[in-house]
Amino acid sequence: MKYFLDSAKIDEIRYAYKNWKIDGVTTNPKHIKLSGKPFLTVLEEMAEEFKGIDFPISVEINPHLENTQEMIEAARKVSQISKNFIIKIPCTEEGLIAAKELTKEGVRTNITLVFSPSQAIQAGRIDSHFVSPFVGWKEGSGEDCGQYIEDIVNIYRDYDFKTKIIVAALRNGKQIVDAAKAGADIVTCGFNVYRDSFYHPFTNHGLEVFRNAWDETETGDEK
Ligand code: E4P
Repeated sequence: MKYFLDSAKIDEIRYAYKNWKIDGVTTNPKHIKLSGKPFLTVLEEMAEEFKGIDFPISVEINPHLENTQEMIEAARKVSQISKNFIIKIPCTEEGLIAAKELTKEGVRTNITLVFSPSQAIQAGRIDSHFVSPFVGWKEGSGEDCGQYIEDIVNIYRDYDFKTKIIVAALRNGKQIVDAAKAGADIVTCGFNVYRDSFYHPFTNHGLEVFRNAWDETETGDEK
């Protein structure tokens, strides 16, 4: 399973790429806002950072656009900035029509804001490059998403859809594991979610135990 970083902060992205082997980036208007930089500046920075490297970067167009043609034009424009860009299109009827047209002309799309298997099926049917079923928002309101992701994975396998599944908006390590168990292609998480997922208190406790034992043992170096 691939790990994408959900961020618009170039320092975080650079760090996670170098040290954690992240395989791609997703971003959204919230992350761009948190970066404190203008939308186009962030996109240009990311494009420059990964120029010539096969590294998917999924970027969202203006979420105010509701009309198919406007979405198509915005997606075309953004996709011209970098070969790495895969354009996030919301899972509305207009968005799905726009994504179908964009796919035909070779612009890769990521159907985002997906909350049900029936939405994911249409993303697969129109050959979107990625589909992003969200988990954290649903689990935050009390739903258990294990079965929901497993259903999407099984349907995609049964119908041989080529669209890759990015399980998105994950909040903790358990949700990463659930996505892996369900057979997702990719997860996308924030910087701290990954960092927390590498941590276990017993690892630190164990280090303490072993350090104490080490200090009470002759190492042989004293001779
Ligand atoms: C995924 O592609 C989205 O950018 C992201 O996961 C949205 O959710 P969040 O910002 O609430 O995590």
